[in-house]
Amino acid sequence: MKATAGVDWCEVVDALAEKHDRKPHALMGILQDLQMEYGHVCPDAQIEVALALGISPTHVSDVISFYHFLCSEPKGQYVVWLCQTISCDMADKDQIAKALSDELGISFGETTGDGLFTLEYTNCMGMCDQAPAMLVNDEVHVSLTPDSAREIIAGYRREGGLG
Ligand code: FES
Repeated sequence: MKATAGVDWCEVVDALAEKHDRKPHALMGILQDLQMEYGHVCPDAQIEVALALGISPTHVSDVISFYHFLCSEPKGQYVVWLCQTISCDMADKDQIAKALSDELGISFGETTGDGLFTLEYTNCMGMCDQAPAMLVNDEVHVSLTPDSAREIIAGYRREGGLG
């Protein structure tokens, strides 16, 4: 992932607008490319995207907020998405949330100091029959218990070299 310090967002976005088309329908393609390259789409980049496509910066930031795979701030190496929708909620999602939060020492919406984990809520991901469920990056974990949630985190910690 590339660092963002000193990046000329006007130049970067201009090249992406050339690649994807300089029209509003190119928005998702440009945002996905920025997310892949830099791990997030910072506010300065968002403004340049809005200018390049002739759309409002608010629209750009609304789109980023809507899609869980886009973000405006850097996230951890592992992003833990706990489902908060009704089936998972009724299957004691709050206990899983507490176990994850205790294990990682952070609240939802935060990233651990070592940059390894970010904790987020998400909405239904279609695994309601195996609730409660969570995603870690693109891996699904289902039928969670507080213990299994802690073990899953420990596994990623080992994989990330901190276990
Ligand atoms: S409600 Fe959680 S996966 Fe559907």
